[in-house]
Amino acid sequence: MNKYLERIKRLYNKRDVAYASMFWLLSQAAPYKKQLLVKLGINSISLFMGFVSTIAGKYIVDATTSGSLNWLYITYMASASLFTILFSAGSNIFSAYLTEKFEFGMRCNIFDQVQRSIWSDLSKYHSGDIVTRLTSDVANISSGLISIIPSTITLGIRLAVSFCILLYFDPWLALFALFIAPIGAICALLYRRKYSNYQIHLRESESAYRSFMQETMSNVAVVKTFQQEDANNEYLRQIRNDRMGLVMRSSRLSALMSSVMSIIYRTGYVVAFCWSAYRISQGQITYGTMTIFLSLVSQVQSSVSSLGSIIPQIYRMLVSARRITSIADIKNENYTEADDSPTQVTIQMSDVSFAYGKSNVLEHVTLQVDPGDIVGVVGPSGAGKTTLTRLLLSLVKPDAGSVEYINECGDCEEACPASRRFISYVPQGNTLLSGTIETNLRIGKKDATEEELWAALRMAAAEKFIQKTENGLQTHLSEKAGGLSEGQAQRIAIARALLRNKPLLILDEATSALDEDTEAQILESITKSYGKTIIIITHRKSMLRYCNKIIEISENAIVNMRPLK
Ligand SMILES: Nc1ncnc2c1ncn2[C@@H]1O[C@H](COP(=O)(O)OP(=O)(O)OP(=O)(O)O)[C@@H](O)[C@H]1O
Ligand SMILES: [Mg+2]
Repeated sequence: MNKYLERIKRLYNKRDVAYASMFWLLSQAAPYKKQLLVKLGINSISLFMGFVSTIAGKYIVDATTSGSLNWLYITYMASASLFTILFSAGSNIFSAYLTEKFEFGMRCNIFDQVQRSIWSDLSKYHSGDIVTRLTSDVANISSGLISIIPSTITLGIRLAVSFCILLYFDPWLALFALFIAPIGAICALLYRRKYSNYQIHLRESESAYRSFMQETMSNVAVVKTFQQEDANNEYLRQIRNDRMGLVMRSSRLSALMSSVMSIIYRTGYVVAFCWSAYRISQGQITYGTMTIFLSLVSQVQSSVSSLGSIIPQIYRMLVSARRITSIADIKNENYTEADDSPTQVTIQMSDVSFAYGKSNVLEHVTLQVDPGDIVGVVGPSGAGKTTLTRLLLSLVKPDAGSVEYINECGDCEEACPASRRFISYVPQGNTLLSGTIETNLRIGKKDATEEELWAALRMAAAEKFIQKTENGLQTHLSEKAGGLSEGQAQRIAIARALLRNKPLLILDEATSALDEDTEAQILESITKSYGKTIIIITHRKSMLRYCNKIIEISENAIVNMRPLK
């Protein structure tokens, strides 16, 4: 009994996911309903012209068989054909406009949601996977929605009108059409799950190889120096072989669906042809009526065989929707910017414990950093120094205890994303973006004057080397600050944080690539003239001479804070 209940529950859950994806897709299409209606209007006019042509054909044939020419209907037919051509060109242009607008709009919305997601949840995804979802999955959805919604409605109208015309001229043929029409749809439904599964695996494999390529391209030096070219090719070949099997199975299934539909509707055509021939021989219908039947059957046939491609497209779209919703549904940080500009801050951590998974990184940390303190944070690699900054930046939340900020007026707030307004941060590692030096600096302060930019660079000991470059602040950096040395990139990252000018400056091994003299020069100027609270995470004991407090983090998650001077 339990087994059955489990199965029903599973089925229900799967159905739920499909419905959820469908509702989500409709919600994405909702803002574009006017444009979709315009497209539907264009399609319907083309459809109407098709019917005009078909009926005109009957009267032209009937007139010809009785030995005359019906110029009026010939004119109708010619005009309808001309309009159909014009509307189809207009429809293509409008589709291109709508696809671009919809696709890019959707991409921007989801990009925004993703960048506001909670860091710890988002960082579980590979960036290549996220980019694949934002690019090809979004493209699948937009081309799907834009063509599927209007084409399905047009198809419905075409079938209904054709049925009515058939019913008017020959009720038996109409009943026959009614009988065979759903067979194709039933057949497509039978293969739905299998096809969707292939699509899920194909999308996952696309994410895997894109992530691999992206990572390889941004680490070309590692590839070369470790002579990984052949191994990489082998890995890609492996992915290609796995994909090939899936692609072939999926296209065989899709070809099967189309073939079954074609067989059904070709049968319909033959039946309509023979039936009409029989009725002509009996003198029950004219040659003109027969042309109507044949034209209608072939019109219906062409749109129903396009259903053969619409159905796989719907499944592909549902799979892509599921992939997008899984990243768009990551909880957002959801905070409102505070509009104060604090000038001083006291940090209070009370009994804070934190673990990424099961093993604790920090346990029962209690400490206070006062305004103007210069605190050195030391400890072995992997002890939890960067994790401490993530707690301060509210990128992760403590499992127990609290992190609080107290401003110059004594107002206290629990650390949250809005508390980042207290902090200027130099992250560990190379964090410059591609673009010019100036664009990187302006991330710290958008409207900084030229003097402010140079003053920050001077304090970060970056002024001289930038002056020596040909293009100065306009020097272009490629990915990962390509074109600069590691130490030069670190100095620009420090200047970027100084420009942000917040009451707390966190330097996470921000000078690790610098020579001792340059490091001393930077720390001298920052600690003497910057006048803020500074947290310096370092492996170099010599740096502690600038600090008045030290936080020692040991490997067993114990944190100890003591004064230095
Ligand atoms: N995103 C993460 N998910 C899971 N575990 C993590 C994550 N980031 C860090 N860790 C683990 O948490 C521990 C502390 O890492 P953290 O980066 O804080 O160390 P650290 O003291 O800054 O080291 P280093 O001096 O090498 O920079 C390490 O054991 C690390 O493996
Ligand atoms: Mg670290």
